[in-house]
Amino acid sequence: MTIEIVAKDAMLGAEIQGLDITQPIANEDQATLRAALTKHLVLLFRGQSLTVDEQVRFAQAFGDLGAIADTLLGLGKRDYQGDEIPECVSVISNIRQDGKNIGSLGDGECFWHTDSCFSETPPSASTLHSIEIPSEGGCTSFLDMFDAMDALPASLRSKINGLSIRHSQVYDSTGAKRPAFEEATDITQAPGPTHPIVRTIPETGRQVLYLGRRLSAYIPGLPVEESEELLDALWAHTICDSRVFSHNWCLSDLLVWDNRTTMHHREAFDPLQRRRLHKVQVAGERPI
Ligand SMILES: [Fe+2]
Repeated sequence: MTIEIVAKDAMLGAEIQGLDITQPIANEDQATLRAALTKHLVLLFRGQSLTVDEQVRFAQAFGDLGAIADTLLGLGKRDYQGDEIPECVSVISNIRQDGKNIGSLGDGECFWHTDSCFSETPPSASTLHSIEIPSEGGCTSFLDMFDAMDALPASLRSKINGLSIRHSQVYDSTGAKRPAFEEATDITQAPGPTHPIVRTIPETGRQVLYLGRRLSAYIPGLPVEESEELLDALWAHTICDSRVFSHNWCLSDLLVWDNRTTMHHREAFDPLQRRRLHKVQVAGERPI
């Protein structure tokens, strides 16, 4: 089978055809996929009915297996997950079974973010596979942070020179407070690691804007008001339809995204409908 890479009609994103990812991926095909991810930032595979173990194996075509958010936060394995779900797999779902959530993030909007920016070593890539999807809504969109960096006005570029963001661990991407953390009433004290606002991708030397997520983010060294103003200006510049690729899920789709150079967003969906996706991540390095 020959791999075909079909670029999406957007600034980022490509569909990969001609590859059965339920099977082990040959070394030369793994190299092709990694190069495609570097170029297109988001890869879509359609019609792939993967078991969790097959998804875990497939993710490793892009690097070492990564930890999910709960593990990176030191929270351990969630007790609502069935025994068939290994600790390296995150269940993203609004489904309730026997009075318990089977997964996380419910049915609401997930604001623009990169995965696990609140850890010292955020994942370099994420894979997300659709098991059950609603008839509409729940679309996942991706934003090209290289383009956001390249288009940064000089005035804004000079203001962020040498600065970092502290990435709060308190809230998840829906804005809900994690039970293990106290409310962040003083954002200068919110727990979380500090990463440079402009990070450099080691393999290419390319610089990219790394914002993580907006809620309770803080630029250490600045008064809170100045930090808020600068972050608001960066986010207003960054969120722009021209640098977005949006994906409407079909059953058995799998998406892989570069988690260092993109942000993503989920739209809300009908709470009466069922949605279940499995996420497996690829280990990353400390942002530099
Ligand atoms: Fe996410």
